[in-house]
Amino acid sequence: MKNVLSFLFFVLLVSVLDAKITKPNTENFFRCLRSRTSPKYTITGAIYTHDNSTFISSYVSYTKNKRLSNPNDTNLVAIVAAKHASHVQATVVCAKSNGVQIRIRSGGHDLEGLSYISSIPFVVLDMHDLRSITVDVSNKKAWVQAGATLGELYTKIAEASKTLAFPSGVCPTLGAGGHISGGGYGNLLRKYGISVDHVVDAHLVDVNGKILNRASMGEDLFWAIRGGGGASFGVILSWKINLVKVPKILTVFKVNKTLEQRGTDVLYNWQLVSSKLPPELFLRAMPENTIGAKSGEKTIAVKFYAQFLGSAKKLMKIINKNLPGLGLKREDCYEMSWLNTTLFWGDFPIGTPASVLLDRPTGPPGAFYKGKSDYVKKPIPKEGIEKLWKTMLKFENVWMQWNPYGGVMDKIPSNATAFPHRKGNLFKIQYFALWGNANATSLNLGLMKELYEVAEPYVSSNPREAFLNYRDVDVGSNPSGETSVEEAKIYGTKYFLGNLKRLMSVKAKYDPENFFRYEQSIPPVLAM
Ligand SMILES: Cc1cc2nc3c(=O)[nH]c(=O)nc-3n(C[C@H](O)[C@H](O)[C@H](O)COP(=O)(O)OP(=O)(O)OC[C@H]3O[C@@H](n4cnc5c(N)ncnc54)[C@H](O)[C@@H]3O)c2cc1C
Ligand SMILES: *[C@@H]1O[C@H](CO)[C@@H](O)[C@H](O)[C@H]1NC(C)=O
Ligand SMILES: *[C@@H]1O[C@H](CO)[C@@H](O)[C@H](O)[C@H]1NC(C)=O
Ligand SMILES: *[C@@H]1O[C@H](CO)[C@@H](O)[C@H](O)[C@H]1NC(C)=O
Ligand SMILES: *[C@@H]1O[C@H](CO)[C@@H](O)[C@H](O)[C@H]1NC(C)=O
Ligand SMILES: *[C@@H]1O[C@H](CO)[C@@H](O)[C@H](O)[C@H]1NC(C)=O
Ligand SMILES: *[C@@H]1O[C@H](CO)[C@@H](O)[C@H](O)[C@H]1NC(C)=O
Repeated sequence: MKNVLSFLFFVLLVSVLDAKITKPNTENFFRCLRSRTSPKYTITGAIYTHDNSTFISSYVSYTKNKRLSNPNDTNLVAIVAAKHASHVQATVVCAKSNGVQIRIRSGGHDLEGLSYISSIPFVVLDMHDLRSITVDVSNKKAWVQAGATLGELYTKIAEASKTLAFPSGVCPTLGAGGHISGGGYGNLLRKYGISVDHVVDAHLVDVNGKILNRASMGEDLFWAIRGGGGASFGVILSWKINLVKVPKILTVFKVNKTLEQRGTDVLYNWQLVSSKLPPELFLRAMPENTIGAKSGEKTIAVKFYAQFLGSAKKLMKIINKNLPGLGLKREDCYEMSWLNTTLFWGDFPIGTPASVLLDRPTGPPGAFYKGKSDYVKKPIPKEGIEKLWKTMLKFENVWMQWNPYGGVMDKIPSNATAFPHRKGNLFKIQYFALWGNANATSLNLGLMKELYEVAEPYVSSNPREAFLNYRDVDVGSNPSGETSVEEAKIYGTKYFLGNLKRLMSVKAKYDPENFFRYEQSIPPVLAM
């Protein structure tokens, strides 16, 4: 009986997912948008089509990867840059009823461009104008709209308090919409965990165009959008976040060790200690290919970036005891406010005014890039590290970020939010290649595959885990308009581990017809 039922269910499911989108009716789509919004909040000035002179600039300002940015894409029907929540609601309802796919975009940093490309007719629902932030110091809470950048959020928090902060990413132009729904980690990870660990409420537009909050969406959906990626479930309008305590003065440093300066040995030892240091200390290692100062030849420099919730004096003690090979000197350390540390991590020179955190670069993206990720559970032997160097030296420009785990990450259960990568990790690797010429794309993509293969014996396996925010279509992906459940289980298992099943059943409950779909979305599959 159970088998028959599951068979019937399977047939039903396959037919739902394979339902071909009818040819989109774009005229009706635009008419629908106007009829569903009030003149008071007119949508006209929020709609960009290829006929608007500002169309290209509106498209490219939030396409951060030149490899994927394509303003001439004929599948792109329009950009709706919502100025009001009703514009978001109308876009969802009208896109759905007229067979147009939507791509939701906040900061536009998706590493594979999945917020601004599609191979079937689509609309970009752009959130960058919905960017208000309100901070409530006495309750240590804030509301942040999806289109705000992290730089804007950090600035507002610091304006309100010198001892509050939010655990989130290190690049100030990341959008709150995409970044937080994918997990969101940064240098407060060992002390406070990641962004989704501090989300306490959210406003979301669901597939029926309704605005829900935590109470009305229910705990299942609220769980799913904390790490499962928002774009499978609806459009995040805003997050309510919990702010965390930081001292008035923190300490940071950046120290380089090239191979000639025994960088490999220091990095090897870093693996043994970095996840066991006090949680107030986050010490990232960043191996990067570079030109040797003396030799003039390519070599590897391992940059060590630290953030410590305490004084330089105390930090010196901890480092010299646990990682003496780093040779840390007092003059390497800078004491500063939390807001100033966000500039330091953004690689702005010391002394840069904090107003740069509010910059929103416009104009086309400058560089082509590709990222990948891995989780590491036991130290990589020196010969393994040396194999990685050998491949890295073949690139023009490549780096890795080794981000230490431990601290509170070992204490938060892997099913507390949809983001699963918690206990048992020593560190997470991000691989990142950057180039400036379209001619070099295939070479770099090939080298990234090689680097990932070289790393395979040393990283997590069954599944080989990956971080959703470091989007990588090589770990599995579907065509734009169709969702194969089998394929989705391949990438879904790597991104969500044991949380995939619950994510699929939340999806089945809230978006059974799979309207919110993209190449790596979660398919609607009820738990059996
Ligand atoms: C230079 C750089 C630095 C980075 N640093 C970090 C870091 O320190 N820590 C970290 O965790 N990650 C980091 N990332 C990864 C980053 O967090 C992800 O790319 C994230 O998805 C970006 O969010 P976004 O809103 O800018 O991107 P977008 O491209 O706008 O969106 C990314 C994804 O989220 C979806 N989405 C966007 N807005 C919404 C919304 N309102 N509702 C529902 N779905 C939405 C999109 O459809 C897409 O699937 C970095 C990326 C880059 C390029
Ligand atoms: C795009 O052009 C239309 C028609 O001229 C106009 O009504 C609309 O305001 C323009 N959109 C923007 C964002 O300027
Ligand atoms: C888009 O098309 C215009 C006009 O044909 C062209 O000038 C421009 O270079 C194209 N842009 C891209 C990124 O291909
Ligand atoms: C550290 O290495 C980077 C390149 O990897 C280089 O640009 C920078 O100047 C170096 N800094 C120091 C202090 O040596
Ligand atoms: C932060 O940086 C600014 C700009 O360099 C500087 O003027 C200020 O003194 C710094 N403040 C703290 C507390 O670090
Ligand atoms: C996580 O799993 C544990 C053990 O299976 C269970 O008791 C708990 O309720 C789950 N937590 C959530 C938030 O689902
Ligand atoms: C890229 O390759 C094309 C064709 O091989 C060549 O004509 C062009 O000059 C190259 N561009 C650069 C900047 O190297």
